[in-house]
Amino acid sequence: MSFQETRLKLAIQKSGRLADDSRELLEKCGIRFIKSRDQLFCTAQDFPLDLFFVRDDDIPAFVASGVCQIGIVGQNVLSEEILVSKNSKLKSVKEVMPLGFGKCRLSIATPHGFDYRGAESLRGKVLATSYSGLLSEFLKDQNVEAEIVDMRGAVEIAPRVGMADAICDLVSTGATLAVNGLSEAEVIFSSQSVLIQGLGIDAQRQEILDRLILRINGVLQAQNSKYIMFHAPVGALDDLCAVLPGSDAPTILELQGRDDKVAVHAVCNEGVFWETMEDLRHAGASDILVVPIEKMLE
Ligand code: PRP
Ligand code: ZN
Repeated sequence: MSFQETRLKLAIQKSGRLADDSRELLEKCGIRFIKSRDQLFCTAQDFPLDLFFVRDDDIPAFVASGVCQIGIVGQNVLSEEILVSKNSKLKSVKEVMPLGFGKCRLSIATPHGFDYRGAESLRGKVLATSYSGLLSEFLKDQNVEAEIVDMRGAVEIAPRVGMADAICDLVSTGATLAVNGLSEAEVIFSSQSVLIQGLGIDAQRQEILDRLILRINGVLQAQNSKYIMFHAPVGALDDLCAVLPGSDAPTILELQGRDDKVAVHAVCNEGVFWETMEDLRHAGASDILVVPIEKMLE
């Protein structure tokens, strides 16, 4: 009899906008894996996790069918698949937590000369998109009837070649729209990457998932946090602590040979910007150091 370790199975995007960030997140969680270019499956080292590399629109189905217990996918893809797929199991897929990367929006975009005054302007028009589910929902909510041309990619080109009057596509930096002479007219869906989970996970795998979630939370928190250190005149401490963003109990340390100044150390859970440092300087701080935090567990 051979001992078979229970392992959690995770579906992530093989290549595309979320692929690198998904891998990087796992690596920051201390999960290492070696993947060759054409590999569809691999086993993580140091953690009971197996990875499946698939097309992003297949990820919800992988999770719904139980081939993988969890996945990393954009909310845009998840919502679209739930709307258009005939697979009713997809409705059981749940978002576990947002992951903070892959932020983008699904927007209506129009060519120059299209006078967009809200969804009403789309009535009777032809719209090209790869997101017919989300676009149909939007049009239905707005009580607007329009024709949808379903395209797999290169949606941006449709107005120029006369296939459509306007498009509905993902926008991240806006560069693709600009290059194609299109302007973003209205956001219909805001998205980022999420961790998803299917129904019916067993207790052992749930335990692995809980460990993974704890690590992901640690990574996300550390990403948003900074460790800040500075010297402060004793009399200015109250003012300085009021300026510290998202930090409740800073550490106050003695400075050798000084009784007029102390050192302040604090973890700030909100952004520390140049403005924050300038505010601290104004309030009397000196020798200000801001350093990144690598890992964090509360
Ligand atoms: C999306 C979208 C645009 C581009 C927008 O495509 O369809 O083409 O990204 O990004 P930008 O605002 O930063 O220019 P994606 O990269 O997902 O590839 P696909 O269209 O081939 O699916
Ligand atoms: Zn595209």
